Amino acid sequence: MTFRTRYTGLIETYRDRLPVSDSTRIISLGEGNTPLIKLNNISELQDEQINFYVKYEGLNPTGSFKDRGMTMAVTKAVEDGAKAIICASTGNTSAAAAAYAARAGITAFVLIPDGKIAQGKLAQAMMEGAVVLQVKGNFDDGMRLVKEIANEAPVTVVNSINPYRLQGQKTAAFEIVEELGYAPDFHYLPVGNAGNITAYWIGYSEYACIKGEQATAACTHCNNVCPYINEQIITARPKMVGYQASGSAPFMRGEMIDKPETVATAIRIGYPQSWDYAWIVREESGGWFDECDDSEILATQKLLAEKEGIFCEPASAISVAGALRDINLGKIPKNSCVVCTLTGHGLKDPDTAIKQSTAPVIRVDAKLSQVKSAILENMIE
Ligand code: F0G
Repeated sequence: MTFRTRYTGLIETYRDRLPVSDSTRIISLGEGNTPLIKLNNISELQDEQINFYVKYEGLNPTGSFKDRGMTMAVTKAVEDGAKAIICASTGNTSAAAAAYAARAGITAFVLIPDGKIAQGKLAQAMMEGAVVLQVKGNFDDGMRLVKEIANEAPVTVVNSINPYRLQGQKTAAFEIVEELGYAPDFHYLPVGNAGNITAYWIGYSEYACIKGEQATAACTHCNNVCPYINEQIITARPKMVGYQASGSAPFMRGEMIDKPETVATAIRIGYPQSWDYAWIVREESGGWFDECDDSEILATQKLLAEKEGIFCEPASAISVAGALRDINLGKIPKNSCVVCTLTGHGLKDPDTAIKQSTAPVIRVDAKLSQVKSAILENMIE
């Protein structure tokens, strides 16, 4: 039998397309290589004959897509001699920063919004030894402070304004193309700071790029000509569709907003850091932005769990909520290939999940008769 090669993370896998050299010490937890799962049971998809996949990024080492960016950002920070990293976060970035800093043996400072971070994410940052600063304000306040402190103290910012973050995150698009053999027609993502939608676009664009051309105007590493092209792998790129929660939808309002609100705390952001890039992505890809309200987000989170066995966090479910709505509205032609990124694991936010779950928990005595009658009463025909 042939044994599989041990998977050692996305930097090793995509070395020739990432800014590392042979002597770079790579800080990795085996991130990337996440499953692309075809949805089978949601009826709209069968009716409209849509090839519908989710990229389940919740299966990264710390439970979100942030690990892809963090392996790159921390690797480069360590290479540049940093002893500490810092980020503002709605939770997932802080969990990833804490984990990769622990792995590297450096300090992580994380600024989180007061009371508005899911419990799982807070537990991760605390266990992984980060210095947690709970800011009396929201994510946008934390982000402003992080940018200011970077000029005053020897800390490397690892939010997605750090260009290495997007370089790591672009690899998710590579994986999708390699599995499908082509790029999807539509790619749906939740949008907060808009770093991830930009990163996917950079990834697809590099695979579609012809030598001597700039992959995309959103690429921060290009210098007008992509340094990473070795062959043109795809000829068409997807339309990129970004969904925001209605209470936190600056791209829909056309301006920054001051008091973002949503149950999807991961994307409770009013001042997206990759604002300009996201508009470039929309323009170049021919995609669009749209919004879903909190009830639609939660209903879709539940639908995915109940019908497909896939548990994602609320912010992630918005990509599928948006795609299903667009399919119902006839915006997606029959036989299209649609990919939605499920950015984070459902276990990140157990409180929201339990609060909205209507499934009965049946209490029984420790007796066979009671267990038997509970089973017979609850059998689905
Ligand atoms: N989904 C999840 C689960 C997230 O945690 C985030 C962002 C997004 C989507 C949006 O991605 O910002 O690249 O548009 N979370 C950041 C954090 C803000 O601090 O964890 P984006």
